[in-house]
Amino acid sequence: MRAVVINEYGSKNVLVGQELPKPEIKANQVLVEVYATSINPIDWKLRAGYLKQMFDWTFPIILGWDVAGKIVEVGSEVTYFQVGDEVFARPDTTAEGTYAEFTTVDEELLAKKPSNLTFEEAASIPLAGLTAWQSLVDNTKVKQGDKVLIHAGAGGVGSLAIQMAKHFGAFVATTASEKNEAYVKELGADEFINYRIQKFEEELSDYDVVIDTMGGDILNKSFQILKPGGRLVTIAGQPDLALTEKHQVTASSHWLKPNGKQLGEIGELLEKRILKPQVGSVFDFSAEALQKAHELSETHHAKGKIVIKVK
Ligand SMILES: NC(=O)c1ccc[n+]([C@@H]2O[C@H](COP(=O)([O-])OP(=O)(O)OC[C@H]3O[C@@H](n4cnc5c(N)ncnc54)[C@H](OP(=O)(O)O)[C@@H]3O)[C@@H](O)[C@H]2O)c1
Repeated sequence: MRAVVINEYGSKNVLVGQELPKPEIKANQVLVEVYATSINPIDWKLRAGYLKQMFDWTFPIILGWDVAGKIVEVGSEVTYFQVGDEVFARPDTTAEGTYAEFTTVDEELLAKKPSNLTFEEAASIPLAGLTAWQSLVDNTKVKQGDKVLIHAGAGGVGSLAIQMAKHFGAFVATTASEKNEAYVKELGADEFINYRIQKFEEELSDYDVVIDTMGGDILNKSFQILKPGGRLVTIAGQPDLALTEKHQVTASSHWLKPNGKQLGEIGELLEKRILKPQVGSVFDFSAEALQKAHELSETHHAKGKIVIKVK
């Protein structure tokens, strides 16, 4: 099969095309013919070698952890899914990722592709959507009437988190640059903070929840806007315990857990058009196109999701 791999850590130029054997499925897995995948910042963080301590992998590494496609083979223990099913998933984090014509997925991580979505739209959802969902539902338990700040509302995670938080009945503030004001308001944001000229920590107060996607200084300043008893989750750093105590809030760092059941719940919201996929750009499936897609993601200013059309 055709794959785009890395054989060393480095710049976008280490992404190269390679012919590899089709991966073999285990009893609890299916083989998915990949129609589309998407780019997430973890792809280029891994490519650059920033995460090599976390994953003990050997080259070649196939990056990519979002897939939408069709099942072409099922393992002997697979019960619910069949050959021919159109599915989407955030597969397990292995060195056999989704920048390839075929990929394996554990049955428990799969969900049926919403029928009203294209494969490109479906591939934009799993990793970013599950991250947004788990931050809002499992971690901060956002409920009707909560005031929620979502950092980077125009990004892959933020653009889905805004829509989900509105669906849960929250009042939503978000940060973005001026060019994205209309965009984040269309997604449902009630209050827009232009981070280039406004200081969110001076504009907002008495918030119930912060979803931090930025880390660093932004994470630290986010404590200031929470009311006592407020909840903060960061997906881009570690909260400072002293700040947690000072502001009498709860705070934690979240690392997404792939989950087919939750993805199915997100799929239902997509079917009902309560949630809309946010595909900002689509690239072809070649090493050159993936290099360009990584370059765009690495600017930190991509709008919505970057998708790769594989078939
Ligand atoms: N822990 C986990 O499990 C997990 C899961 C997913 C993602 N993440 C991490 O979460 C972060 C966000 O991921 P993503 O996929 O949403 O990234 P992304 O799509 O690349 O985010 C790009 C967006 O960030 C915005 N942005 C840049 N600087 C900003 C600032 N100072 N304030 C507010 N917005 C700003 C940009 O808006 P403008 O163009 O308007 O500036 C752009 O729309 C990444 O670091 C990623 O690695 C972690």
